[in-house]
Amino acid sequence: MKTLLTGGAGYIGTHTAVELLQNGHEVVIYDNFSNSHPEAVRRVEKITGQKIKTVQGDVREQSTLEAAIREHSIDSVVHLAGKKAVGESVAHPVDYFDNNVNGTLVLLRAMQATGLRKLVFSSSATVYGVPQYLPYDEAHPTSAMNPYGRSKLMVEEILSDLYHSDPSWSLAVLRYFNPIGAHSSGWIGEDPAGIPNNLLPYIAQVAVGRRDAVQVFGSDYPTPDGTGVRDYIHVMDLARGHVKALEKLQSQQSPELLTLNLGTGQGHSVLDVIHAFEAACKKTIPYVLADRRPGDLASYYAAPHAAQQTLGWQAQYDLTTMCADAWRWQSQNPNGYLS
Ligand code: WQD
Repeated sequence: MKTLLTGGAGYIGTHTAVELLQNGHEVVIYDNFSNSHPEAVRRVEKITGQKIKTVQGDVREQSTLEAAIREHSIDSVVHLAGKKAVGESVAHPVDYFDNNVNGTLVLLRAMQATGLRKLVFSSSATVYGVPQYLPYDEAHPTSAMNPYGRSKLMVEEILSDLYHSDPSWSLAVLRYFNPIGAHSSGWIGEDPAGIPNNLLPYIAQVAVGRRDAVQVFGSDYPTPDGTGVRDYIHVMDLARGHVKALEKLQSQQSPELLTLNLGTGQGHSVLDVIHAFEAACKKTIPYVLADRRPGDLASYYAAPHAAQQTLGWQAQYDLTTMCADAWRWQSQNPNGYLS
């Protein structure tokens, strides 16, 4: 089975590539390297001992996609390419809809033109919006809170309409909670450009001395310690979820549309994460309590059972391992792939 991995050089993509290759899948990485490094692909080769075919292309280029699919005899697609920063999406909504929504439409056109019908799509728990109850299960109502979330929700709706118009498609929509951590080798990991938006890379950069202190956004939330609670999931667990979803689509005789949470079901506060990271790096992480970040929710976490029932998948790693692996990556590569 040969899978095209769009966004395959990115944080989720590299870890998913490792997991696919180590489970006997052939992988072609398709990436425009707008927010990733060719070095990341070389590191995946180093981990797996396999040479990886890579196509430099944008998901909005239908002819490049079709050529890649034909040349490499691709039979399924894991679609991770897209933009992912909430704040940037508010400032540049057109870029977000162009990359995330138009990019997916062009990919679907390329798949239609080449006869492909199996797609795993990278969605987000952000599509649930303000919790009406917790944990979020897949039946929780959806609503977007910003252009990034809206772009993910729009694609989910497009995929649902596509499936209902033409049930020859097999589609898996994976709603990620908060992916953190790194491959246990320390050779690949999260390497955000500029100032990290997300909590874990920020903490890791403080630990390695690149930044002074973590700002804790809000300490008056109605949570046990007043700081925001999220469902952090090890990126290797997330990667394994993609492999399971893809294998389910490939093994299934009848087409289907799966929509599944990938989370642990456990909530951890910002202070929990800081303290777990301190234990991992054996340093004190300076932090300051700051105002809430606009648009943030107090608390959310997954009901992870549907993925367990449907895919036999369950997250294995706890917060201690997530932080230990993130620290191994960050300490071995203080400046990311440019180290
Ligand atoms: C986690 C917690 C912050 C930074 C977002 C998107 C989601 C997904 C992941 C894509 C919150 C707090 C953070 C900091 C802090 N997107 N925090 N200081 O906001 O849950 O999810 O990223 O890839 O769709 O919405 O993740 O890591 O930014 O924040 O106190 O410097 O950490 O307030 O409680 P979030 P996050």
